[in-house]
Amino acid sequence: MEGNGTVAPDLDLSTELCGIPLRHPVINGSGTFDAIAARRAFGDELLDQFPFAAFVSKTITPEPRAGNAPPRLWETPSGLINSIGLPNKGLQGFLEHDLPQLAELPVPLIVSVMGTSHDQFAELVEGVASRDEVAALELNVSCPNVKSGLIIGESPDEARSLLQHLRPLTEKPLVVKLTPNIADPVPVAVAAEEGGADAVSLINTLRAAAVAPGSQRAWLGGGTGGLSGAAVRAVAQAQVGAVAAAASVPVIAMGGIASGRDAAELIGAGARVVAVGTESFRDPAAGSRVAAELGGQLARISG
Ligand SMILES: Cc1cc2nc3c(=O)[nH]c(=O)nc-3n(C[C@H](O)[C@H](O)[C@H](O)COP(=O)(O)O)c2cc1C
Repeated sequence: MEGNGTVAPDLDLSTELCGIPLRHPVINGSGTFDAIAARRAFGDELLDQFPFAAFVSKTITPEPRAGNAPPRLWETPSGLINSIGLPNKGLQGFLEHDLPQLAELPVPLIVSVMGTSHDQFAELVEGVASRDEVAALELNVSCPNVKSGLIIGESPDEARSLLQHLRPLTEKPLVVKLTPNIADPVPVAVAAEEGGADAVSLINTLRAAAVAPGSQRAWLGGGTGGLSGAAVRAVAQAQVGAVAAAASVPVIAMGGIASGRDAAELIGAGARVVAVGTESFRDPAAGSRVAAELGGQLARISG
């Protein structure tokens, strides 16, 4: 792993997120950097040159999930559609097998969780938040509530009532990951904050579809998938700006960030922290590079 993105020592990019100190404002997007596989590939060099200031786990669910049938990926001009379908070991598998390995990372750990009811979310929050290794939780709300049929992150009322249910369960920061698949994410962000969220993150992927070449059939095994990468950055720019203007809690911005300039533009729109996602598949050290470039960008703006 190339350490080509080391932050210049004289530049202090340190910040904090909900009281968690970060050595720079660049973290990863959930599900886009497998730190356990990267440790196998790069060994302890990964720990010495860890590209992110905090690590966000892939989303876990209460029970193990196999994920969607293949194919799971489709490349578009400047973007990637994935239909991975949240394969994971489930809460117990995560706590037993993944958490001890993720706890060895040299940065604070944020665990992403997703349930389909208040009770499922509560089980996840209680199971994860009680572990000292965990600094914060991210709630992936891009899923339907089985009781109402509504996608939690698409409904302000659903988001508020979920947060009201979870807030008493832990004092650890709760980050709500907003979906962009809605005309206006601001009412959901405001409702999440009213319910007790400590931060919001956006954007998750945009619903998208691909056609199998030479046919009229869907390419992706899951039918549709989520678009990410450079193609969605302008959407993130607009939504982050709108949410940051309306919310008082810190905003974690993501969506197509591949350079310090991209990161600086989202920080300029009001984000406290940025996350690198799809770009890490091309360059596993992208987080360090973006942080180093961000230092240059911010020095130029303030200078
Ligand atoms: C392959 C892949 C897997 C993802 N898995 C998750 C996930 O498990 N949970 C989640 O909240 N977001 C997931 N995301 C969304 C990313 O965290 C991020 O919000 C989105 O991709 C936009 O950022 P980017 O354009 O920099 O990738 C995934 C994205 C990709 C490309």
